[in-house]
Amino acid sequence: MPRNEITRVFLIGAGPGDPELLTLKAARLLEAADVVLHDSLVDPRILAAAPQARLIDVGKRCGRHAAPQQEICRLLVEEALAGHVVVRLKGGDPMVFGRATEEMDALRAQGIKFDVVPGVTAATAAAASLCLSLTRRGISRSLHFLAGHGAEDGLPAHDWVALTRAGGTLVVYMGGKTLAGLAAHFIEAGMPANMPAVAVEDATLESQKLMRGTIASLPTQVAAAAPRGPVLVLIGPAMQDEEDVRACVVTAAGM
Ligand SMILES: C[S@@+](CC[C@H](N)C(=O)[O-])C[C@H]1O[C@@H](n2cnc3c(N)ncnc32)[C@H](O)[C@@H]1O
Repeated sequence: MPRNEITRVFLIGAGPGDPELLTLKAARLLEAADVVLHDSLVDPRILAAAPQARLIDVGKRCGRHAAPQQEICRLLVEEALAGHVVVRLKGGDPMVFGRATEEMDALRAQGIKFDVVPGVTAATAAAASLCLSLTRRGISRSLHFLAGHGAEDGLPAHDWVALTRAGGTLVVYMGGKTLAGLAAHFIEAGMPANMPAVAVEDATLESQKLMRGTIASLPTQVAAAAPRGPVLVLIGPAMQDEEDVRACVVTAAGM
């Protein structure tokens, strides 16, 4: 069988951090990998599942230089054409703000077969950490995943009014640093200043921190906390329920 008919490249979601949230399929493929190209957000305990593999860190964290996307695509293709079993391991789910399209296009262009293995995305991980459902009957009937920064690290050109009017739960990825600007846009678009908003740093890890407030207060709370880990912001009426949160924290402590 020609090489390009054998699947040798796997785009895999590593989940939000907690190694126990890795899928069985991801763990099995990591054990079979010759080379793992991974994001920097991927927990070292997950990388330990591939002791036989060559590990290449292609990710960006805290301003550190990342391999440009073109270089990642080039590496993927090069390693696959060399006959290696290649795992491209991404934080969360590969199909959510993971630049999977560029990588899949590069592989397709060379006729290289690939598979995608989903992972637990930060939104559902954070909801589990908060013990708050992202959707709630009669309260929040839609769910919107937004990028919190644009291509040049500024704010993306979202339709702030439409998002505000939708009245669902807004989940902002990569918005920890631009939160003040995001909040200003939402308030200007008509969102009540007391709309519940929560920020979760390092969801599912021991270092996890929850910051609860309103769309008006949260930017200052997050800035004061000076988070070092990834931050997910959740905004909307479903984010209000302190009793649920307290019950969840008590349960987690007893686990
Ligand atoms: C480039 S996006 C990748 C998202 C990833 N593909 C996913 O499905 O979760 C990175 C952003 O995801 C969010 N994120 C990822 N892991 C997180 C975690 N453990 N806790 C909080 N936010 C997280 C943060 O907003 C971070 O800036």
